Amino acid sequence: MAEYLLHHVHRPERCQDISDAWKSPDAPSGLNGHDFFCSCRSGDHGAFISAEAHSPEAALKLLPALLRPTTRVYAGQSLRIVSDTAMATRAGQGARPTERVPGVAIAAQYDPIAPDYEQWVVPKFRPVAEALVKAATVSPSEQVIEVGAGTGGLSRLILPRLGPTGTLTVTDVSPGMLEIAARVLASPVPRSNGAGARLTVTEADLTSLPVSDGAFDLLVSQFTPLLDGPAGLREALRVLRPGGRLAAAVWGSSYTERALLNAVRLEAGIPPYPDESVSVTATRIREAGFGGVRHRSVRFQVVHDTAETYLAYRAAFGVPPAWNPEQASRYEDTLSRRVEAIAPDGESLVLAWQVVLFTAFRAEVV
Ligand SMILES: C[S@@+](CC[C@H](N)C(=O)[O-])C[C@H]1O[C@@H](n2cnc3c(N)ncnc32)[C@H](O)[C@@H]1O
Repeated sequence: MAEYLLHHVHRPERCQDISDAWKSPDAPSGLNGHDFFCSCRSGDHGAFISAEAHSPEAALKLLPALLRPTTRVYAGQSLRIVSDTAMATRAGQGARPTERVPGVAIAAQYDPIAPDYEQWVVPKFRPVAEALVKAATVSPSEQVIEVGAGTGGLSRLILPRLGPTGTLTVTDVSPGMLEIAARVLASPVPRSNGAGARLTVTEADLTSLPVSDGAFDLLVSQFTPLLDGPAGLREALRVLRPGGRLAAAVWGSSYTERALLNAVRLEAGIPPYPDESVSVTATRIREAGFGGVRHRSVRFQVVHDTAETYLAYRAAFGVPPAWNPEQASRYEDTLSRRVEAIAPDGESLVLAWQVVLFTAFRAEVV
């Protein structure tokens, strides 16, 4: 069955570019079998159906009217909402210069491993998520967005803290990760504040969120590229209301697991993890327009039952798009050898983490 993609362009100036990319004879074969409906606030772009809609939800409501002449063809087909950056990237054009890794490549890393990530990684990240939620100080009536949410390990701690007037918007570029997030978050959870908050799960790149300016009180992120460059930070600033808060957890630069993995990378011919000081990251957050930038380093001791369970945990992060197959296989072999040497014969493996929690707020006037 064909899948129809509804591409809502939330920045009208991007619509023409993306429309051109879709019409181009160079559009990659990944687009075969897809029909494309573009909705935006301006104009009609030839082969594209343009709706006077200001949100993906509004565009979806308009679609039945748009499709009426061809109902027989479209009946029963599925619709998926995609973000403009992800779509432009998929069409091989229009990616923002600041987007370091295309959304579609990140999705290709995370989609296949999503169930393993949920099984092996989410329980290990739980203490970090608890520390981040505490640092974020969520209130019941707040409008909260998580970027790079993965399978929702952090969001599942935030949702029960929200009351009936609160909302939680869960976003990521990987539909596979979001599918699990949506399932877990939809299951009944103990709500400390009575009736539950409204939940939205949307595929979106963190540099291009399909939401309006100033819509959120709080933006949270755990182990995503949000703080790596100005594009994500600018977008975070845009979607926060004046006074709205940012709370993000990133890896520190000095802990035993990092030393182990950097040694493995070196042997496999893969560059080490980038070494950025906390003050450089803090300056970037400030330069993006945030005030009150604070950071706190937190240490965790993580116990893996055996070398095998640790290797299953590591494999559950998938293969980064920058690695070639030879590097990936050398990495896997080297990691197994080193880990089995540290924890032989079913012994447990204890590794320390250093995590940095950043908090900041959008100044009243930007
Ligand atoms: C290490 S996982 C962390 C997932 C989740 N935050 C957690 O703590 O379990 C990184 C996540 O960031 C997402 N991601 C990476 N780059 C992204 C981007 N530019 N926009 C949105 N999501 C992104 C990946 O798809 C993946 O789900």
